[in-house]
Amino acid sequence: MAEIARYPSLLPLTGKVDGPTARAASAGPAKQDKDHALWREKSLRRLFSIGHIEHENELEQSTRDQIVKDSMEVLRSNDRGGYTVPAEGLYPFQWNWDSAIVAAGWAVFDELRAWEELETLFSDQWKDGMVASINFHKFSKTYFPGPEIWGTPENPSKTSGISQPPVAALSARFMYEHTAHPVEAKKNIEDLFPKILAWHRWWYKARDPNNTGVVAILHPWESGMDNSPAWDESMTFPIDPTLPPYERQDLTHVNANMRPTKDTYDRYLTLLYRFKRENFYDPDKLYEISPFRVTDLCVNSILFRANRDLRWLALQLGKTDAVAEIEGWLDNGFEGFKKLWDEEAGLFKCQDQITGKLEDAAISAAFLPLFAGVATREQAARLVENLSTWLKHVKYSVPSLDPQDPRFEQLRYWRGPIWLIINWMISNGLRHYGYDKLADRIRNDSIELTNKAGLREYFDPVTGDGAGGTKFSWTAAMCLGWLDRNAVIAIGHKMSGPKDYLN
Ligand code: DGY
Repeated sequence: MAEIARYPSLLPLTGKVDGPTARAASAGPAKQDKDHALWREKSLRRLFSIGHIEHENELEQSTRDQIVKDSMEVLRSNDRGGYTVPAEGLYPFQWNWDSAIVAAGWAVFDELRAWEELETLFSDQWKDGMVASINFHKFSKTYFPGPEIWGTPENPSKTSGISQPPVAALSARFMYEHTAHPVEAKKNIEDLFPKILAWHRWWYKARDPNNTGVVAILHPWESGMDNSPAWDESMTFPIDPTLPPYERQDLTHVNANMRPTKDTYDRYLTLLYRFKRENFYDPDKLYEISPFRVTDLCVNSILFRANRDLRWLALQLGKTDAVAEIEGWLDNGFEGFKKLWDEEAGLFKCQDQITGKLEDAAISAAFLPLFAGVATREQAARLVENLSTWLKHVKYSVPSLDPQDPRFEQLRYWRGPIWLIINWMISNGLRHYGYDKLADRIRNDSIELTNKAGLREYFDPVTGDGAGGTKFSWTAAMCLGWLDRNAVIAIGHKMSGPKDYLN
């Protein structure tokens, strides 16, 4: 296998002491520009000196410099004090996986702020270990459904009642491994570790009560890939005829052709109200009564990868019991993933747990088992073959649905558009399996997309135009942490085959 990704250490994390963030507070615009230029020059020299950045021409470099600057600005302007909103107006609260990704972006230039992001994310963790998809810290009228609709019983109604892909362990490891402040980082990680462990336990207890090794999502919002065609068939349950009338806020921010349809929203709310009638609180009951129960590739791949990183953290902290527990999850996970492989298609598929059928759609999450390191080499080769075929049908990688699928819509949310965080995960996974050329293609496309369209929520794979929200936090985080350097979230362990994590 070709040398796996190169992971230069992050920039010196000057943070609030002498980094651009601290200076910005007191300095005027001219001084800020000069400081930024110096900081940037230093960081580039550092990158060049370890030889991990390709040669880029001057024009390209100045565009990228501007994007780095814009990305830092986006994080600062979306900072609400301890947490970062994904985008002003459209998403005015703290979203779980957005926030964990954004922490890795903050870490590039303000490590202390990065830790704060994770701390705030876990501040509303439920008693049973769940970390909700949304923390409603401050009132906002610009999003539906807000806390008054969710009405969750915890403390009082401060969060949604479902979860989201468990990214936090990845960022926590990344930040701990590359810290410039080891003493503080150790304290932070000691505080965070048991909380992340409790959340992973929650996933297995609440979403895999039969111990199959892979967890269910009970709502499409739990996957983060809300309207993916992967669960079109599973979303055919009847709409609740008693659904109260509602007004969508998302359509006041973004064109309707870029968002889920009304029919889909009716079903999202049917599930929400059904869970609310059960008081959200009894996960065993929810698991039984939900008319939607899907083994999703996005959550499961991220959980698997997060377990590897949590295991690494457990080893650093000398938590041997936790290491054994996590290895149990990894072993079971290898078994669970086997059922999601569609040999004929050469792809992983989501599975409807109620009917037992593999879902028919080929989605970008089919490639995430590479990021998890759970695919075999043979499976990886088939995945690469498929991905290469997809890319003959679009200009930019990676569309969220196979572009040959008649349901492909180049602008509609998770039914075609490109998402940078998924690009990063796929590209990172490809490198681990030795497919550097394809990984580079994805990274270069991502650079071109952000050069062309800016820090948008997602991108049209045919035209490269931006879509959805603007000034988007996790896109900014990806520009800082991934596109600006060949780094972000290291894995020091082997990535393929059962038990390789023990080597
Ligand atoms: C939305 O409202 O679009 C979110 O994805 C749900 O969490």
